[in-house]
Amino acid sequence: MRRDATPRRYLMCPPAHFKVTYSINPWMDPTKPVDLPLAQTQWEELRDRYRSLGHTVETLVPDPALPDMVFAANGALVVDGRVLGARFAHPERAAEAELHLDWFRDHGFREIREPDHVNEGEGDFAVTATYLLAGRGFRSSPLSHDEAQEFFGRPVVGLDLVDPRYYHLDTALCVLDGDEIMYYPPAFSPGSRAVLRRLFPDALTASDADAGALGLNAVSDGRHVLFPQAAAGLSAPLRDRGFDPVPMDLGELLKGGGSVKCCTQELRP
Ligand code: ARG
Repeated sequence: MRRDATPRRYLMCPPAHFKVTYSINPWMDPTKPVDLPLAQTQWEELRDRYRSLGHTVETLVPDPALPDMVFAANGALVVDGRVLGARFAHPERAAEAELHLDWFRDHGFREIREPDHVNEGEGDFAVTATYLLAGRGFRSSPLSHDEAQEFFGRPVVGLDLVDPRYYHLDTALCVLDGDEIMYYPPAFSPGSRAVLRRLFPDALTASDADAGALGLNAVSDGRHVLFPQAAAGLSAPLRDRGFDPVPMDLGELLKGGGSVKCCTQELRP
């Protein structure tokens, strides 16, 4: 099958002040040192790779008081040019939400909603051609699902996350193209697994090892799939489906519990 990439617009935030000083997910160990220059180089390689693939990358100004701000995916959800702001579950990240909203206000976005309910942006929302898939269980409130459905006018499918290592939907599920996804079934409750099988019978499912390397925290432009290189087992099945796997090393950012997707918010026109 021939795959076509479409040019995307992404919002990213350089990890200038990235560190692990608190722990709000099982990947974060504040006693483990972070190599900041290496984190910066890895992040720049991701940004430059997007640009070399023809995508536009916008950047946020990092705030020294917000060490997780590099995980820009969590700051909003943008679909049809409409912006649903984030409301973070943990006080440590709360102030990121306003910085994202300011960026949207300054960049010509007019349909902006300040959320009533806790939602961590694209961390827990994934956009397929037909649905808005929405994670809950660790961060985003189930009430944010109704809020998103009403705001975007797209059918929301709520999915229950049950394993703390996969605390955001984007750690366990990735939209490859249209209504094609890849995901890790054990991250979901039995009912949610059944829903995913019903809606996406042909989905690619990841092994324990590939999911455990955060391999599903990936970004696809419809053809190229950028994903954490340690999830090497994803390359062959992606290639079989006609995608071009693009392994990336974001090992330092993994210490914060994030990888390719967490660093990338998509601005959908
Ligand atoms: N340390 C961050 C947190 O726990 C990582 C966020 C990763 N982002 C993501 N989209 N999964 O909130």
